[in-house]
Amino acid sequence: MRTDTSPAILRSNYAPPNYLVDTVELGFDLDPALTRVAARLTMRRNPDGRSNEIVLYGDAVELVALRMNGKPLTRRAYRLNGGELHIPNAPDEVTLEIETALQPDANTSLMGLYVSNGNFFTQCEAEGFRKITWFPDRPDVMARYTVMLRADKRAYPVLLSNGNLVEEGDLGDGRHYALWEDPFMKPSYLFALVAGKLVCQEERITQPSGREALLQVWVEEGNLDKTQHAMDSLVNSIRWDEARFGLELDLDRFMIVAVGDFNMGAMENKGLNIFNTKYVLANPRIATDADYANIEAVVGHEYFHNWTGNRVTCRDWFQLSLKEGLTVFRDQEFSADMVGTDSGRAVKRIDDVRVLRQAQFPEDAGPMAHPVRPDSYVEISNFYTVTIYEKGSEVVRMYQTLLGRDGFRKGMDLYFERHDGQAVTCDDFRAAMADAGGRNLDQFERWYSQAGTPRVTVATRHDIEAGTYDITLAQSCPPTPGQKTKLPFHIPVKVGLLAATGADLPLVLEGEDAASAPTTRVLELTEASQTFRFTGIEGKPVPSLLRDFSAPVILEYDYSDDELAFLMANDSDPFNRWEAGQRLATRRLLTLTRMVQDQEPMRETTANLETYTAVLHKTLDDATLDPSFREMVLTLPSEGMLAEQMDVITPQEIHTARQFMRRLLARTLRNELVQLVDLNQTPGDYSPDALSAGKRGLKNVAMLYLSELDDTDTHAMAQAQYDQASNMTDRIAALSALQNSSAPGRQDALERFYTEFEDEPLVIDKWFALQATSPATDVAAVRALMRHPAFSMKNPNRARSLIFSFCNGNPSRFHAADGSGYRFWAEQVIALDAINPQVSARLARTLDRWRKYAPALQSQMQDALQRVAATPKLSKDLSEVINKSLA
Ligand code: ARG
Ligand code: ZN
Repeated sequence: MRTDTSPAILRSNYAPPNYLVDTVELGFDLDPALTRVAARLTMRRNPDGRSNEIVLYGDAVELVALRMNGKPLTRRAYRLNGGELHIPNAPDEVTLEIETALQPDANTSLMGLYVSNGNFFTQCEAEGFRKITWFPDRPDVMARYTVMLRADKRAYPVLLSNGNLVEEGDLGDGRHYALWEDPFMKPSYLFALVAGKLVCQEERITQPSGREALLQVWVEEGNLDKTQHAMDSLVNSIRWDEARFGLELDLDRFMIVAVGDFNMGAMENKGLNIFNTKYVLANPRIATDADYANIEAVVGHEYFHNWTGNRVTCRDWFQLSLKEGLTVFRDQEFSADMVGTDSGRAVKRIDDVRVLRQAQFPEDAGPMAHPVRPDSYVEISNFYTVTIYEKGSEVVRMYQTLLGRDGFRKGMDLYFERHDGQAVTCDDFRAAMADAGGRNLDQFERWYSQAGTPRVTVATRHDIEAGTYDITLAQSCPPTPGQKTKLPFHIPVKVGLLAATGADLPLVLEGEDAASAPTTRVLELTEASQTFRFTGIEGKPVPSLLRDFSAPVILEYDYSDDELAFLMANDSDPFNRWEAGQRLATRRLLTLTRMVQDQEPMRETTANLETYTAVLHKTLDDATLDPSFREMVLTLPSEGMLAEQMDVITPQEIHTARQFMRRLLARTLRNELVQLVDLNQTPGDYSPDALSAGKRGLKNVAMLYLSELDDTDTHAMAQAQYDQASNMTDRIAALSALQNSSAPGRQDALERFYTEFEDEPLVIDKWFALQATSPATDVAAVRALMRHPAFSMKNPNRARSLIFSFCNGNPSRFHAADGSGYRFWAEQVIALDAINPQVSARLARTLDRWRKYAPALQSQMQDALQRVAATPKLSKDLSEVINKSLA
């Protein structure tokens, strides 16, 4: 049974707009139950357009009046079909006046204009502006906006929009107004308004050019003690973009506003960024080190969009990665630069690669796989994906790897020189990089047009007599929906060769001069298979391949366990040091999983495991390595990562094997782990800096291992940390160690935690998430938590903290053999769809790879998917995901 299918929008059908908009004047009479919007657009015929027909888009918005050049348009003068309004035979110069009426307080989709905790907010990307007024709502239509806001003064004392405040005053009837003017041309998706009871922290900065700017972080009254970190992050972002890319803030005023109901992380509206509270509010009491780092990254991300996204925007939504991939790359580099140390930078890289492998590789291998620049979509909201964002960022990173840091900067400079103020394509970006670098990057285009994760297999051959070492790289890419065969990619493979001493060898390619040979170099793989011959290699080296994860590929090489242990101990590339440990651990874990599948007893000690634990010992004792790096090394590949390595996924068995290994490591490394806990205390005032956070991370991962032992000593350790914790990082880690054991204080701690933080929604989200992801929590327990008075389906953060956390983060319970997890999933997807299609479509993705699972699970997953498919009136968002999953 299939739901109705909405037509797909095709990239190949792109046509320039028939009319351009020069100015937009908007007047809002804000009222939660009935808001009136008057829009006045001055438009003119686009010389590149195809006809003199004006096309406007509208979505669930009532059209009250429509006038063209001063005269009302009769019902015969335009055509309405669904979400489109066509005015044929329009004159070359047009002034359109459009009046609409909306009900913000009934808008649970959180797109367009909506109410959150009594205040007004907007979200217009990608196609939310059409929920406010009829408009040529497409990113290649850029205009200058003037916005008049009118509202009750007591209920809505603060009235904000993009750009500069030019006038404000009273209207006499208890209402007041504010007039805002944005000096920059922008597409409608960057429009924003905020109105309500808010307060702000502000700071003034002076830029290198001498320009001054006012920075503000707006929050609800009780949250003013949680804005400092966001403000610091904003100032750091501004400084970083000046220093690294020579890009200045171009506005007199830059505002960040926090809102508790938000579909995604944040939004880069020009001069008025709107953020999920989760990515703004922090103080040591409520936020973890991870929260602090995420806030820095997201504040940076949205700020960096001011140039990559706003000054230069996307021609159409197929080009989404033009701004998102580039801006993610920029925020990743920013976060890495804020850490500073080499192994600290590597930790950031490892974190980013983990997300890529755990979320993007599966997407690329599933029914929703799409290229970084897709060819079609049904609902664009479904394409805010890890492929567009994270793989897109990897694609941008490869330019930097190929051109060097300076070359990349030249490419960026040329991009802005050519395209400032324009709406452009991924091809334009690639052309700027190619032209600035004097390189042909034609083949590189395939990273944008071909989906799927390339596989690079490596073979090596050492000729002792000749002193040569050959590295043969071969690439292939599996088929993806709509793309059966793939052409070779242009893949930068960074390599090094380690001598038996552990030192890096100079890398001289055959025919090159040996003088000043580097020890890391980028091999450019462009053919299906290529051999690179190094000379002057006496002893047999160990290759360090794909250093720093130089390309988003799966690299296969038949390392021996000893070679991996050697790399883990010696590789000068910290990423590959970590990677070697993960490969070793993955081997052990997959072997154990197979034993569980075959109902063989898991053997406690094998020679192999000793190789792994021995080198783990060494790494943990190495005080020259950043604590955060050692934490990474100590962390086993997740259950999801292991699932990716299997042809047929059996979640229970993976879980059992991994738990076995965790317990075994806890027993084997017990003394070390206890020492790590003792040595990495961070007394004194809390600071979220990388070193302190790293210490807490290492200490807490050690404590979590120890909790696997479930004895009185480890119970006491977790209980003591819980009772004495002076920050959320330590508190939640201790709580989770307690939950992971049979400690007597376990239930009491959970209840105390709730009471203590009852008034902090972001902490209550953590409280739900902690329980939702505990292997002790089954479907029945999740259902019970849904009846808790603090639970709500309407708030996306809350729904994610319980429902998503369970479905995505508790594999051994979600994949219960009786299918109860899948039935729960179907119910929640259907219930959420009636409230908020973006949220339901996100949750729907949980089952899109059902075909990868063992047959007994597969059929139950299919039933659940079909049950959703058979539900009447599904949103376009949800049906696209369900249809593609079942296709
Ligand atoms: N452009 C935003 C960002 O990545 C995300 C867009 C939000 N979209 C949405 N439908 N809520 O920074
Ligand atoms: Zn973004």
